[in-house]
Order: sequence, then C-alpha cells, then structure tokens
Amino acid sequence: MGKFDAGFAGSVALITGAASGIGLATARRLAAEGATVVIADLNEGAAKTAAQELGADSVAFDVADPDAWLETVEGIKNRHGGLHLVHLNAGITTYRAENSDAPRLGFDLSAVPLENYRRIMGANVDGVILGARACIPLIAASGGGAVIATASAAGAIAFPPDPIYTATKHAVVGFIRSMAPSLEAQGIGCHAIMPGIVDTGLLAEGMADQARTLGIPVIAPEEIAEAVVGAAQSGKTGGLWICLADRPAFRYAFNPIDGLGLPETD
Ligand code: NAI
Repeated sequence: MGKFDAGFAGSVALITGAASGIGLATARRLAAEGATVVIADLNEGAAKTAAQELGADSVAFDVADPDAWLETVEGIKNRHGGLHLVHLNAGITTYRAENSDAPRLGFDLSAVPLENYRRIMGANVDGVILGARACIPLIAASGGGAVIATASAAGAIAFPPDPIYTATKHAVVGFIRSMAPSLEAQGIGCHAIMPGIVDTGLLAEGMADQARTLGIPVIAPEEIAEAVVGAAQSGKTGGLWICLADRPAFRYAFNPIDGLGLPETD
C-alpha cells in the first residue's frame, strides 16, 4: 500500500516556492486534502500571507542555502513531528520575469551576468539537491513518502530562449531519475513534474497572452497541483510527469541507448 493511498490527512508536506504560482496551488490543494502544509519561500511577506489563508505554517529562506535547509527540516521535526512529502518547486529563469535585464532577441551567453548564472543554479539545482539531501532522512524516519521536484518540459527538450534554465531542468530530471532506486528502498517515491507553459509570475509580462495568441496552450497552476498529487499517489517511482493543458499528466520516457552496457533503471 502506498503512503498516500488513503489521502494526505495526517501527513506533513513542505513546498518550496509556495508563496505564488505552482507552489501556492499545490499548497492549497494539499491543505484542502487535509495535510499539514509548510510554505517555504524567499518572499517572507507573501509566504506569511499564503500561510494565513491556508492555516499553514511558513518559513522564509533561500533554497540555495544548505544551512537554512538543515534548520528548516529541524524546525519541521520539532513543530510537526515528521515530514512525508517535499515538493522542491522553487525556481527562476536566467533573467527576472519583469525582463528588465533581458536582451530582446536571441540568447547571448556572454552577456549573462555571472550573478544571474549563480542565482539560477542556486535556486533551480542546489535548491532541489540540497533540499532532497536535507529532507530525505526525516521523510525516511517518518515512515516514507515522496520527493517531488518541479522540473519543466525544458528538462527533456531544447528551449533556445533560455539555455541555462534548460540546463538546470535537465539536471533536475537526471537527478530525480537517478535517485529513484535508492529512495525506493527507503519507502520514498521520487518524481519530476514537467509542465509546458504555466500561467504564473515566472512568465514575463504578457507572455501567457502572447502564447495563447500563437496557439500555444497555457496551463493553470491548479493542473500542476493535480499532477503533484497524482504522482505522489501513483504507487510508482521515478516518474517524469509531462503536464499539458486540459489533459491529465502522463509519464515521459527517454529512449534507451542500445549497447551502452549499463542496466536501464526506468
Ligand atoms: P513563480 O514565480 O510564480 O513562483 C516561484 C516562487 O519561488 C516565488 O514565490 C519565488 O519567491 C520563489 N523563489 C524563487 N527563488 C527562490 C529561492 N532561491 N529560495 C526560495 N524561494 C524562491 O513561478 P512558478 O511558475 O510557480 O515556478 C515554480 C516552478 O515551476 C519553477 O521551478 C519553474 O521553473 C517551474 N516551471 C514553471 C513553468 C511556467 O511556465 N511558469 C513551466 C515549467 C516549470
């Protein structure tokens, strides 16, 4: 029997980047399902407001900070007695959403400020790996559960408007696929959520409307929350869940490489 077969009531869920967008939608969904939710975000004010709305706990920290991770997990253990699900969701693009520092056309790698590069690697890659590192022991000690990361469809395709973002999401997908067998042995399911374009503050101003005009479907954050719940309850592990508009999330698989000589794990 899977950890969440009977639902999420009585479980403790930590969601990063939960003050807005996909994380907030997931927090709302899990709170509605009866979970004790911990909203984590860099934006302290927005995290507190969201927590108040949901009757949730909140914590403000940078997911790129390894010490903050350890403190956060210790705090959750003390306040809530355990942890069953972590949604490693906080993430950013190379240029800020307001687009003030972004070039208008193409992607000029040499023009990317080093600070932007460090910031996105910190949020999107360190935030997932350090988060998993800090949370896994407590999830295991709490009887198992799930580690779910928000990657992106850009974790499996080329996305020329932001190659650095694409690299971070490929990193998340590789990490999740490779962690799954070790975590399964500890009763922890491990999944990557891979959405197309979602209508959140991550998008540059007007981008959602522009996408719709071009016939590109834009997904509501609530649909991604549904995918997170579905992955946690799938009874499987190592899932790469593609999320598109108006249809249930479905599993993606890479092509196997014949002749490599290594065992395929998924
Ligand atoms: P969002 O901008 O609405 O939410 C991201 C949240 O993460 C914000 O509240 C922000 O304050 C927080 N955050 C950023 N850096 C942080 C850090 N270092 N430490 C702690 N919190 C931090 O954006 P959205 O769309 O909800 O993004 C969530 C995840 O979904 C990201 O990983 C993003 O890459 C991914 N995603 C988004 C898509 C989209 O089209 N919006 C498509 C595919 C994936």
